[in-house]
Amino acid sequence: MKLYVEKDYEKLSKVAANIVREEIEKNPNIVLGLATGSTPEGMYRELIKMHKGEGLDFSKVTTFNLDEYVGIDEGHPNSYHYFMKEMLFNHINIDFKNTFIPDGKTKDPEKYCKKYDELIEKKGGIDLQILGIGENGHIAFNEPDETLNLGTSIVNLTQSTIEANSRFFDSIDEVPKTAITMGIGTILKAKKIVLLANGKKKAKVIKELLKGEKISTKLPASMLLLHPNVTIIIDQEAYNG
Ligand code: GLP
Repeated sequence: MKLYVEKDYEKLSKVAANIVREEIEKNPNIVLGLATGSTPEGMYRELIKMHKGEGLDFSKVTTFNLDEYVGIDEGHPNSYHYFMKEMLFNHINIDFKNTFIPDGKTKDPEKYCKKYDELIEKKGGIDLQILGIGENGHIAFNEPDETLNLGTSIVNLTQSTIEANSRFFDSIDEVPKTAITMGIGTILKAKKIVLLANGKKKAKVIKELLKGEKISTKLPASMLLLHPNVTIIIDQEAYNG
C-alpha cells in the first residue's frame, strides 16, 4: 500500500488527477471506476482543466460508477447520475455511451446487479478505481456489517451515512435509505485502486486503516489491505486530525 500525505485538499486533488492523467495517457481505452461524494470533486475539477487546457482526451475512456441511491430519478439533483454530469461528464469529451452508473430505479434489482458486474467484466475489468471513504469506513455504499456483499447489490444505509449525506438534501427525511453499490469483490477486482480522504472527519477511520493489521467487515475499507495495488492519498488533516 502506497501512502501520500499532501499538505491540503488542493494538492491532494492535483496528485490524484495526475495519476488518472498518466493512466489515461498510457492507455486511452482505459476503464475507470469513479466515485461520488465531496472528496473527488477537486480531482474532477483538475481533470476538466487538463482536458480544456492540455487536451487530455477522454473519447475512448469507459467509466463505471460505484453506486447510486435507490428510488431516485437520474435527473434529481442529488442523484449520482446528476453529480457525474455536473462535476465531470458535461465538461469533457467522454462518449456518454461509455459511462455507466447503477440504475437506482431498476425494476429487477437482482438481475440488474448481476448484469452490472458482467458488463464490467465484458469491458475488460476496471483498470483504475477511485474511492472515497465514509466516516464509518464504508467504501462505495458497503457499510460496516457482519458480512459484506461480494457483487453489486442493493444495501441498507446506516444511520451514520444517512446523517453524513443529509448535508446534500433539504432534510434528513429525504435521504434514501437504500442504495445500489458495487460489492467489495467488484471493487477488489480492479487492477489499481486509489483511495482519497481529506479533512479532520476522516482522521479516525484513516488512522484505523493505516494500522494495516487486521481486516474486518466492520471496517469495509480494511478489505483493501488484501489488494496488491492500492494508493492512499490524504491531506494533513485526515492524517493528523
Ligand atoms: C458516500 C459515497 C461514497 C463516498 C463516501 C464519502 O456515501 N457512497 O462513495 O466515498 O460517502 O463521501 P464524502 O467524499 O462526501 O465524504
